Amino acid sequence: MGRDKARRRKTIANTTPRNGHNITIVTRYIDKITPLHRSTGESVVLHRLIYASETVGLTGASTLSVAQILGAAIVNNRRDNITSAVMFHDGWCLQGIEGSRQDVDRLMRRIREDRRHRNLRVLSDKPIASRSFPEPMALCDDPAAMLRAIGLANMAEVTAYHADRIVELKQAA
Ligand SMILES: Cc1cc2nc3c(=O)[nH]c(=O)nc-3n(C[C@H](O)[C@H](O)[C@H](O)COP(=O)(O)O)c2cc1C
Repeated sequence: MGRDKARRRKTIANTTPRNGHNITIVTRYIDKITPLHRSTGESVVLHRLIYASETVGLTGASTLSVAQILGAAIVNNRRDNITSAVMFHDGWCLQGIEGSRQDVDRLMRRIREDRRHRNLRVLSDKPIASRSFPEPMALCDDPAAMLRAIGLANMAEVTAYHADRIVELKQAA
């Protein structure tokens, strides 16, 4: 093992609580070690795709499952110049993805194949003038409040209209 790798492992061991998975520490750490791969002033046409899916097993319900998804997403999305936000609630997942057509489609191919969720339904997919999600991957920390704000009891009834309202509310927050 290289000295750098060993040092990194030691840092994770020192900062991660033994009895749990602190997502903030994990994501901050990944942020630190991953170079920002973003050009200034984008020349490509941007798209935003929003989908809903049903989670499988503990996906989205356990801290570990969320940390695993966020960990991979932050690294990959930085690399691919994707910005995104995800929300888990009561067996449902809602994710918005922004980037070039090619990058969004490439990511969606991987996400569709992922067995941690199923019955994926694209709610909206359109060109956008600018990004609404500022980060490579953000987790909505109060999904119940977000759903209440748009007048939904759960995500089973989510439509393109609701998805757009959520994006607006996130942007305004
Ligand atoms: C709900 C959900 C959201 C995901 N979001 C992303 C994402 O934004 N970016 C990403 O790279 N992978 C995401 N993934 C993981 C991908 O499905 C896939 O496992 C991953 O991209 C593979 O990355 P790797 O080739 O680096 O192992 C998500 C998975 C789930 C279940």
